[in-house]
Amino acid sequence: MDSILVKGGGSLQGQIPIAGAKNACLTLMPATLLSDEPLTLTNAPRLSDIRTMTQLLQSLGAEVTSLNDGKVLAMSSHNLNNDTAHYDIVRKMRASILVLGPMLARNGHAIVSLPGGCAIGARPVDLHLKALEAMGAELDLKDGYVHAKAPGGLKGGKVDFEFVSVGATENALMAATLAKGTTVLNNAAREPEIVDLARCLRAMGAQIEGEGSSAITIQGVDRLGGAMHAVVADRIELGTYMLAPAICGGEVELLGGRIDLLASFCEKLDATGISVSESKDGLVVKRKNGDVRAVNVTTEPFPGFPTDLQAQMMALLCTARGTSVLEEKIFENRFMHAPELIRMGADIDVHGGTATVTGVEKLKGAPVMATDLRASVSLILAGLAAQGETRVARVYHLDRGYEHVVAKLSGVGANIERISDQ
Ligand code: EPZ
Repeated sequence: MDSILVKGGGSLQGQIPIAGAKNACLTLMPATLLSDEPLTLTNAPRLSDIRTMTQLLQSLGAEVTSLNDGKVLAMSSHNLNNDTAHYDIVRKMRASILVLGPMLARNGHAIVSLPGGCAIGARPVDLHLKALEAMGAELDLKDGYVHAKAPGGLKGGKVDFEFVSVGATENALMAATLAKGTTVLNNAAREPEIVDLARCLRAMGAQIEGEGSSAITIQGVDRLGGAMHAVVADRIELGTYMLAPAICGGEVELLGGRIDLLASFCEKLDATGISVSESKDGLVVKRKNGDVRAVNVTTEPFPGFPTDLQAQMMALLCTARGTSVLEEKIFENRFMHAPELIRMGADIDVHGGTATVTGVEKLKGAPVMATDLRASVSLILAGLAAQGETRVARVYHLDRGYEHVVAKLSGVGANIERISDQ
């Protein structure tokens, strides 16, 4: 396994290019299952999760060809030859459940392993299943697999999500494009990744209205065609790298960054005293002189503060002047970075879904361990600001969601390298 070594101290200057969104790509890729014509994605991120989704789609008989060093994914599902998504692939990445809706809509049957939980929570898929049942799907749970049937095809229906779910909205949206009749998704997730998916499906011939709002209406069509679609910028990678100059000083331009993808996060950053401005090519983040101010943060579905930036924001607030209260409202166990930050001298008190962070003068470098994707990068951010050296172990978590993180940060002056633990 590899570790990342960070020597803290210096401020950062320069530009960081923002890649295509992992969480958009992971729902755009299964969309190929809806059509027998080619779907090509450009601006795709080079990540292990994308490789896992590639393997899963190929196991179903889809063709997925990675071109241009992985930035282009040329896909085709004209001869699907397997309707079962096996546990050995699904267990590696819960987004695998997103093949269920498209496969069921296209072929009228699908067998998909239940994803199981992960480090940040149990992460059930009950809302996905209820949504498909509302469209006439017959579901059976056997031996850890969902056996789904829709003999006469899915029918348009009314789906009332009891709470907001990104994945369930994506599964239902894709399935509804080929259902007979009209489907309405109420209390739908509003994330930019869902807007991006709707744009791609529309380019394939789907009839969709209301994406980005909490009510999405889909008029089913008989078949979908192919398309070429550019993956939207990754707002979580963007927010993560915006915090780099915020935590250790300097001025960094995030190429491809857009304020509309992260409005509530940018407001919070502004409240801490960090300057965020739009440039011709993206966003510029500058840490003005003086301290960062403490702020309170509550994670919410979009357009609220993203849960995927909570760990990274906590790293910044560990160095802020004053006390901040962070409330994690989306996942039941998403403070695993706190004990690791405490090893670096942070002052954090966790009670259930609430973390109280009192800023300290300086964090101290230490050996720490990544526990999940976003926690891993939070520890790297803390290492950038800490005195001395921080060694982050188990960085395979990082490879799931951040491409070339060492190159991107060293490109703006960070003292960071990846080492093999062998
Ligand atoms: C997506 O996960 C993202 N993953 C997550 O990003 C992100 O944290 C999450 O949305 C929230 O924004 C991808 O897009 C691949 P949810 P998803 O369904 O769809 C519960 C990252 O770091 N729930 O909105 O799984 C669930 O347990 C990852 O990139 C049910 O109870 O999230 C959670 O507590 C982490 N039943 C809450 O709802 C269901 O059927 C929100 O989950 C579905 C979800």
